[in-house]
Amino acid sequence: MTSLRAALTQIVGDAFEAEGLPRAFGQVQDSDRPDLAQFQCNGALAAVKFLNGRPADGSPAGDAKANPRAIADKIAARLKADPLFAKVEIAGPGFLNLDVTDAMLATQLDAMRADARLGAPDTGAGRTVILDFGGPNIAKPMAVHHLRSSIIGDCLQRLYRANGWTVISDVHLGDWGLQMGQLITEIELEGTAPIYFDPNITGPYPQEPPVTMEALETLYPRASAACKANTARLEAARRATVELQAGRPGYRALWKHFVTVTEAGLTREFESLGVKFDLWNGESSVDGLIPPMIEDLKARGLAQTSEGALVVDVAREDDKKPMPPLILVKSEGGVLYGTTDLATVIERVRDHAPALILYVVDHRQHGHFEQVFRAAHLAGFAGQAELEHVGYGTMNGPDGKPFKTRAGGAMKLYDLIEMGKAEAEKRLAEQGIGADYSAAERAGIARKVGIATIKFADLSNHRTTDYVFDLERFSKFEGKTGPYLQYAAVRIQSILRKAGTFDGVPLSLTSPEERALALHLLALGDVLAAAEDKRAPNMLCDYAFELAQVFSRFYAAHHILSESDATLRAARLGLCAQVLAVLTKVLDLLGIEVPERM
Ligand code: ARG
Repeated sequence: MTSLRAALTQIVGDAFEAEGLPRAFGQVQDSDRPDLAQFQCNGALAAVKFLNGRPADGSPAGDAKANPRAIADKIAARLKADPLFAKVEIAGPGFLNLDVTDAMLATQLDAMRADARLGAPDTGAGRTVILDFGGPNIAKPMAVHHLRSSIIGDCLQRLYRANGWTVISDVHLGDWGLQMGQLITEIELEGTAPIYFDPNITGPYPQEPPVTMEALETLYPRASAACKANTARLEAARRATVELQAGRPGYRALWKHFVTVTEAGLTREFESLGVKFDLWNGESSVDGLIPPMIEDLKARGLAQTSEGALVVDVAREDDKKPMPPLILVKSEGGVLYGTTDLATVIERVRDHAPALILYVVDHRQHGHFEQVFRAAHLAGFAGQAELEHVGYGTMNGPDGKPFKTRAGGAMKLYDLIEMGKAEAEKRLAEQGIGADYSAAERAGIARKVGIATIKFADLSNHRTTDYVFDLERFSKFEGKTGPYLQYAAVRIQSILRKAGTFDGVPLSLTSPEERALALHLLALGDVLAAAEDKRAPNMLCDYAFELAQVFSRFYAAHHILSESDATLRAARLGLCAQVLAVLTKVLDLLGIEVPERM
């Protein structure tokens, strides 16, 4: 369905057109002054600039002195003839202030109620978006920036799906870099799995992995520290990486074990966060595409040798800052992060013909993506696809530095979720919530509340800003928090449970609070479109929070369950049900579940 604002824009556009003006001036927006009007249109002012700036030969006589009020008058006269408007006023130099009738609001609400998608826009119809997010690295525990990527990326995948896109999410595992060579050399030195290093053996290798996830978690930091301290070790790790990439059977077999073992752990972590991926591809998935890509780039003169490495020069004349070339192959023969990302563009375009590929990755990787995108466009790999880096800032600790555990290590996702749950349990007990529920139900509620605490806190900031992780504040039941919104939804659920049947009564609006609620509900489609356009989950958070507040004002001002007029009672309950449907939907887009009761 078209949103109310879009429908009004259509009507006001028609009026401008009927006056011989471009219909684009009919753009209607939510009023800046909700106390004065519901909607406004500033087109008359823009139209004057347009008319006065028009070349003399094209402009009809008299228009040279066009004034905005005169134009606004003409538009207003046309709009007043439309019974849809309850009010058409001109304010200031020529702003149009508009109210629609309550009947119109009720009709729109009914249409929204009948729409299974609740008025979500169909911006993605017939188009595919690939969402690259999560991006954990094999053997390394997930760090906080992977957490943000997972939460923001998951919200975007839900939002794009809601808006009619075909979404393909890909976790894009970091499984092909130096850390693999570091691990391989570490295991070689430990001598715990010699079969993988024996040059006389080419397989088959044992089915059983020689390492557990826990072992990998201690092996990797040890290997990485050793490589930092000792250049010979680093060289060995580099060589092992090159040999792995070149296909040495023992290394490949060992690497496969690392991948399988880590994937099992990662799946568990992502599942506990409620995040799912369509594809579990990794950097290594494009291994086969790299040699032909390199041949192609060389043949077309797009790749050159520079200081022993093979690079693509991506600098442009108008660059303000130096733009280093994208390195495809290092002098010792290994391929890099940029090489796999470039080949992945080829693979994605070939397999899915996307209109858009979004990379939800820490904004510190901006330079990397700029290089990859430039190279992809130079080589014509992107096809119809727009490539965009959706960057985000850092989650900091109270010291203003990237969040760490108390022991000083990078926080693991799993531990963070546990922290959220523990805090939720504490809060629920404080509020006396669930004292009489079974332990299992209480634990279930704490899980949902804990996850809501973390996700909402993360998503409610504009993604590019850094924020300080403050569990104490994020977990409050008052204020702009996940738990507050869950609580608001649970409260409406409980009203509706007590209400019995009330269906079939058309909505009617009689008070300013009801009107405000109706307008807010009807804005959902516009908000979903804007949040998609800006890749901005925080707009969904703002919307949900305002909806809960507008609902609270409505709830405080009216009898609902206790209303004695049966028709009025049913109409108000209908409004409650619609608020619940919308709130639940938006929370779901944020990846937040609403408990049955709290
Ligand atoms: N593995 C990378 C990291 O840990 C993130 C991957 C992001 N996605 C991509 N296509 N480069 O920083």
